[in-house]
Amino acid sequence: MEGSWFHRERFPFFLVLSLLLPGRGSAFTINCSRFGQQGVYTTVLDSVFDRKAFRPATNFSIPTLVNISFTMSAVLDVDEQLQLLSSFLWLEMVWDNPFIRWNPEECEGITKISVATKNLWLPDIFITEFMDVDKTPKGLKAYINNEGRIRYKKPMKVTSICELDIFYFPFDQQNCTLTFSSFLYTVESMLLGMEKEVWEIADTSRNIIQTHGEWELLSISKATAKLSMGTNLYDQIIFYVAIRRSPRLYVINLLVPSGFLVAIDALSFFLPAESENRAPFKITLLLGYNVFLLMMNDLLPISGTPLISVYFALCLSLMVVSLLETIFITYLLHLATTQPPPMPHWLHSLLLCCTSPKKCCPAAPQKGNTGLGLSPAHLPGVKEPVESVGKVPGLKEAELNGCPGSTRAQQEDKAQKQHLVSLWVQFSHVMDTLLFRLYLLFMATSITTVIVLWNT
Ligand SMILES: *[C@@H]1O[C@H](CO)[C@@H](O)[C@H](O)[C@H]1NC(C)=O
Ligand SMILES: *[C@@H]1O[C@H](CO)[C@@H](O)[C@H](O)[C@H]1NC(C)=O
Ligand SMILES: *[C@@H]1O[C@H](CO)[C@@H](O)[C@H](O)[C@H]1NC(C)=O
Ligand SMILES: *[C@@H]1O[C@H](CO)[C@@H](O)[C@H](O)[C@H]1NC(C)=O
Repeated sequence: MEGSWFHRERFPFFLVLSLLLPGRGSAFTINCSRFGQQGVYTTVLDSVFDRKAFRPATNFSIPTLVNISFTMSAVLDVDEQLQLLSSFLWLEMVWDNPFIRWNPEECEGITKISVATKNLWLPDIFITEFMDVDKTPKGLKAYINNEGRIRYKKPMKVTSICELDIFYFPFDQQNCTLTFSSFLYTVESMLLGMEKEVWEIADTSRNIIQTHGEWELLSISKATAKLSMGTNLYDQIIFYVAIRRSPRLYVINLLVPSGFLVAIDALSFFLPAESENRAPFKITLLLGYNVFLLMMNDLLPISGTPLISVYFALCLSLMVVSLLETIFITYLLHLATTQPPPMPHWLHSLLLCCTSPKKCCPAAPQKGNTGLGLSPAHLPGVKEPVESVGKVPGLKEAELNGCPGSTRAQQEDKAQKQHLVSLWVQFSHVMDTLLFRLYLLFMATSITTVIVLWNT
């Protein structure tokens, strides 16, 4: 049976080869008469092992077809600064060695044996993006079947370079490429094929990935484009590995605390403007926020400007702006209660217009009104002039002195001054409300913008 096959199919070809390789080409079929009794002869594959330095091809014009596939078993780390993706792969390569062949019927039904890879020619498939030394373990084995098909799997820790875009951090997705190609062999000598469909690779990888860490495998897709370098053309298979960061850690540790701090800062506007606690409260918040930023620096990517940094800067500037507003209002109140300058007419009418709801502004500022309801006696700075006016000591003195004209003038003067003070206090409250609303508006628009950008 073997003889007929030999003569019919391969004879001319074997003849040529036996001339080329004297003493070898006569029989590629292995004599396996004692497989299964005493194990494989140690010498039975010697003719194959002796050839391991050369590509196993009976005709060197025919390229070796190497089918590859891989399973990604872990996404270990993504280094934003060095732009590196560390992952763990099991690479599988399948190719044919035409010098190995046996008939399983003669060999007690044995269809495959395993062989130490150090005795075999191995395709030099590497990953173009690989940025580390290959740490493939020594002493791996490969399966050879009775048709000479060699199946070789190796584990690889792949540190590959990947263009990372961290703008959307921590809601980012990365698309990294793994390009499998031969180091040496051009398309005339080696062609690459797929051992499995790419969706199978993606499915198996997704099922097998053990880590539920920061990164989740989304999809794997592929492209085949030959690589031309000078006059040489290399075959390659490009895999696009899409991974997504799980943002939970960052939302809990970064976004929520800073959101709280900003919310408290906004709420602190409800502390009365006259209270001396407002500015120290805001300064404390600002300090707290700075400490938070310092501590959270480790969690942020070091390179690039992610949107989250813009968000933090925005929160910080909102706090600074609110502190500045408090300082301004405190200054205004101080000015109003100690030496109120004459109020310009237009400001007066504007103030009147804004504080009396019926005249022009349909929605009068509520806070301004409550502020106005507050009697000036509650104001720490206002106390003195009010008290002095309340007691009206000048009045009694003047009466005693028997000088009613001057008393009346003084009284009118005092009343006018008090009116002016209350006008300026009123103005400060209106300003406070207005600035608070502007602050809220700015905060809402900027935070909405950031969220919209994150969602696109
Ligand atoms: C295979 O080897 C055995 C023992 O070495 C020998 O008896 C047998 O004739 C050989 N068979 C062939 C087909 O060469
Ligand atoms: C080798 O393969 C090439 C291309 O297939 C063919 O033209 C050539 O005749 C083959 N040589 C031998 C010795 O079979
Ligand atoms: C590689 O795959 C192709 C088709 O997917 C198949 O025809 C060929 O026999 C395979 N070759 C090897 C060595 O596995
Ligand atoms: C990754 O990038 C490649 C090429 O730019 C593209 O073809 C592929 O669709 C991308 N994959 C994903 C999931 O975005």
